Amino acid sequence: MEELIAKAREVINNAYAPYSSFKVAAVVKTKSGKVYTGVNIENASYGLTVCAERVAVFKAVSEGDQDIDTVVVYTDTDEPTPPCGACRQVIAEFNPNALIVMAGRKKTVTAKLSELLPNAFTKERLR
Ligand code: THU
Repeated sequence: MEELIAKAREVINNAYAPYSSFKVAAVVKTKSGKVYTGVNIENASYGLTVCAERVAVFKAVSEGDQDIDTVVVYTDTDEPTPPCGACRQVIAEFNPNALIVMAGRKKTVTAKLSELLPNAFTKERLR
């Protein structure tokens, strides 16, 4: 766990957050053991901003690695930051039981995605 959080700390300054100044880093670990990083990327057209978690998930999936095991969300704040609702839904697509690690400067909390997004809308509902 600590290595994943350290990886997030390494990349957080790549966040492009000139509008909110709120930098976020995410790290996705897949069942193969591979690790993918992401940061939030904002846009002058604010609604086009993409969260760090989605960048990391999309990097993993675009590399052909869909089996998400753990998602770390790191912010340079005292309190940890929970993933936004859109990112919860995107992670649920690949693993509704993923382990979510929320880390701040002083505190780390973990939860299953199923606790953060109970009764998720998943592909099984489309059958
Ligand atoms: N943000 C993330 O990257 N992840 C989250 O889970 C919460 C919000 C970003 C989006 C935006 O760039 C900034 O934080 C402020 O909302």
